[in-house]
Amino acid sequence: MTNRPPPTPDFIDHPWRPLESATLADGFVTLRWPDGLSFRAYSLWLHENAPGIGFDEHIREGLLDPADLPDPDVLIEASVAADGALVLRWTDAAPTRVHPGWLRYVADGRLVADEAIPPHAPWTAAIGEPPTLDGVDILNGEHQQKRWLRHLVRSGVCRLTSTPANEGFLEALIATVGPIRGSNFGSVFHVRSSVTPDSTAYTGLKLGQHTDLPTRESPPGYQFLHCLANTVSGGSSRLTDGLAVAQALADEEPEAYELLTRANWVFMNRAVDAEHRWEGPIIEPPVDGRPLTVRAFYPVRSAPRMPDARIPAAYRALKVFSRYARDARFQITFSFRPGDLLGFDNRRVLHGRDAFDGTQGARFLTGCYVDHDEIYSRLRVLERLDDTP
Ligand SMILES: [Fe+2]
Repeated sequence: MTNRPPPTPDFIDHPWRPLESATLADGFVTLRWPDGLSFRAYSLWLHENAPGIGFDEHIREGLLDPADLPDPDVLIEASVAADGALVLRWTDAAPTRVHPGWLRYVADGRLVADEAIPPHAPWTAAIGEPPTLDGVDILNGEHQQKRWLRHLVRSGVCRLTSTPANEGFLEALIATVGPIRGSNFGSVFHVRSSVTPDSTAYTGLKLGQHTDLPTRESPPGYQFLHCLANTVSGGSSRLTDGLAVAQALADEEPEAYELLTRANWVFMNRAVDAEHRWEGPIIEPPVDGRPLTVRAFYPVRSAPRMPDARIPAAYRALKVFSRYARDARFQITFSFRPGDLLGFDNRRVLHGRDAFDGTQGARFLTGCYVDHDEIYSRLRVLERLDDTP
């Protein structure tokens, strides 16, 4: 018997949690810990997660094609070693030791998709300003980055202030999180009024509350906007929590809510060299662990895709939705200052801006998209650190 902890099928540093007992019956091993917690582990699942049998010690991923799995009675004995590890004996392989801390992690219900992901907390205009952190050290501090990502997930928005107002900073910061999600606007896009705009974003026009790229099967999870200059008058930014709006509509406007969540629209972008299309409702509620997705960008909403009889009510519901989205109950308004870096969940939080005159002064933002996956992944990794800065 070696003292080296058995490898686990992940890269998490699990604390050692010695088992009290392990009993095999009917293909399941019932594991018990001294604090009374018990967990039933199926034989083939244990086989898939046995070091050296089911997963590779170096890549930590599974090796067994399900077609090649043995019969469930491949496991013939389960016991607990003196150090509290689980010991398994097989008909077709040498005995294996399984890390009891990893088993405890699973028994505690932590091997799930939303592990380390804070629940979404809806907010209204009562918050006044976006959750804000000093961003001066954001590139250097993992604990600061953890706080930033927690805000982005929980509230769906976080503003960093005092970041360097230079063009490469946004890319450098996002590189610490994960890859940028590109679009037909490029990888990092520049938001300033353009002489020949190909999107409403590149004009000085007012933009009502919206989410970007509902023309995609999976609209980008997060949007980041970094302000490099803002000397125009007007152009205030606005944010609305679509989750709070959806909850209020479900309660206060059930007929509109039904249409907003069930009646489909076609979304199509009108760029010269791109033609993305997708169909969906204005609100996809957060069900079965999938995130809320608000598809609300009227410049690219093309046509109703529903029976004629539903169309008049669906238009009424659209109007109700947009009135809620800009209602003083829900909407916050603020101005970008150079060095502000605003991030928000693009599928949950609606954004917009007031009109500005681009001929008077300069307004220059760089922006990019990042999928939910990258934010969640980075946050899970950072949550492995303790909270002591
Ligand atoms: Fe936008």
